[in-house]
Amino acid sequence: MGALWALSLALASGLATARPPNIILIFADDLGYGDLSSYGHPSSTTPNLDHLAAGGMRFTDFYVPVSLCTPSRAALLTGRLPVRMGMYPGVLRPSSRGGLPLEEVTLAEVLAAHGYLTGMAGKWHLGVGPEGAFLPPHQGFHRFLGIPYSHDQGPCQNLTCFPPATPCDGGCDQDLVPIPLLANLTVEAQPPWLPGLESRYVAFSRDLMADAQIQGRPFFLYFASHHTHYPQFSGRSFTGRSGRGPFGDSLMELDAAVGALMTTVEDLGLLEETLVIFTADNGPETMRMSSGGCSGLLRCGKGTTFEGGVREPALAFWPGHIAPGVTHELASSLDLFPTLASLTGAPLPNITLDGVDLSPLFLGIGKSPRRSLFFYPAYPDEVYGVFAVRSGKYKAHFFTQGSAHSDTTPDAACHATSPLTAHEPPLLYDLSKDPGENYNLLGNVDEATPEVLQVMKHLQLLKAEYDAAMTFGPSQIARGEDPTLQICCQPSCTPHPTCCYCPDLGQA
Ligand SMILES: *[C@@H]1O[C@H](CO)[C@@H](O)[C@H](O)[C@H]1NC(C)=O
Ligand SMILES: *[C@@H]1O[C@H](CO)[C@@H](O)[C@H](O)[C@H]1NC(C)=O
Ligand SMILES: *[C@@H]1O[C@H](CO)[C@@H](O)[C@H](O)[C@H]1NC(C)=O
Repeated sequence: MGALWALSLALASGLATARPPNIILIFADDLGYGDLSSYGHPSSTTPNLDHLAAGGMRFTDFYVPVSLCTPSRAALLTGRLPVRMGMYPGVLRPSSRGGLPLEEVTLAEVLAAHGYLTGMAGKWHLGVGPEGAFLPPHQGFHRFLGIPYSHDQGPCQNLTCFPPATPCDGGCDQDLVPIPLLANLTVEAQPPWLPGLESRYVAFSRDLMADAQIQGRPFFLYFASHHTHYPQFSGRSFTGRSGRGPFGDSLMELDAAVGALMTTVEDLGLLEETLVIFTADNGPETMRMSSGGCSGLLRCGKGTTFEGGVREPALAFWPGHIAPGVTHELASSLDLFPTLASLTGAPLPNITLDGVDLSPLFLGIGKSPRRSLFFYPAYPDEVYGVFAVRSGKYKAHFFTQGSAHSDTTPDAACHATSPLTAHEPPLLYDLSKDPGENYNLLGNVDEATPEVLQVMKHLQLLKAEYDAAMTFGPSQIARGEDPTLQICCQPSCTPHPTCCYCPDLGQA
């Protein structure tokens, strides 16, 4: 199981490289805080991610600002809060009119302008639009191979398993076109056979890295795997092999893809010139029970502002530059945009950013400048503002609401049946003593100590100031849907949508 690429770490030099580093940004889907073995899962098989964790910086307090795909991905690629950009409420659909506004500046645009060869493999979920106007080739990516949204946003029967095994895992959304696999703006297959997908993404990534080296340029690879989103699927070498069921098999295939990317980096002689970051878009979808992920000791999961929804595993690996170790400093996916700009020397755009530069933390020469984090729900509203605020070790919930994504666990506060509830005073937790958010320090406000009341006032003030300063951008998702915008491999065929069917030939 040992990864060969890890053996050569001892050879990595501490010399600063003259050229800006290559960047590999790996973004998992619906992967919880408790899903990796390096974060305590007892039966996950993740040897390659374990090597990244052991040889790099492992974050214990890394967050996403919203625990849902579309807003989380928008935040990652722009360093800006989704409400500013109109990436609310909920997620984009295959026929949505809106998308990530083209005037937003993506990490790919910043790095492409700085000489990088940029490529994306996997799940986009930031809009399709007329003529694919919002797709990655129009958002800074020189190359794209992937599905423009989640792989359950279309009929997915018989896509996830090996014939003649039936039934496959899950039915997904009906009455939509089959999910398209795009190569840049062209339909490569509709639908692709899912067990073959991850290896296609790895091959695409290898080509990108090798071509960048031939061209003498650094590369930026955004590897946004569909793993471990429902319905689970995996290639032949992984199905039934993980010891953790279909979820574990998907995770094992993602882990193997990480290993394959690292082997390529090593073969190209680029280990110490390549910064690898791994994290995920939001917490586990516990409504899928054991086929969803696991938030470990944290409360609830996807769709909520409890810790299990917004706190994620995160690893940063860069031999010779980032010292191996664990950090408890506060960090957010919003911070990667300014951090990567700083580490590569790429100029930042003159816009309001919600992320901060973590490069001193990465390089071991300083601490995180981040002091607080603000969490919006999946369906935000300016009337309520942020639902929860973390400052230092304390977190206050001013509003809570359950989510269907977080159904089935024993905690009813997580479930869809748990309505929007205002908390006055807020629920207040000391996450250093109580990461599971079990013991409300303001459960009996009359008996709260002066120190606790002081903390409460501080967090109330932070929320008030934050909400007052925030302006929501016009919602892209509220622009609604137009079924004719759905991607079709046979334009103007009938009957729509079932005629849009150009499956992979030669699948095993
Ligand atoms: C996308 O376009 C680029 C630039 O023309 C090309 O190099 C690449 O092979 C195309 N296909 C994919 C899947 O990226
Ligand atoms: C899935 O496969 C079964 C069994 O071969 C078949 O009856 C069914 O029509 C297929 N469903 C779809 C949506 O292709
Ligand atoms: C940045 O943008 C602001 C507001 O649009 C403008 O006033 C300012 O001059 C700009 N600064 C630079 C350095 O371009």
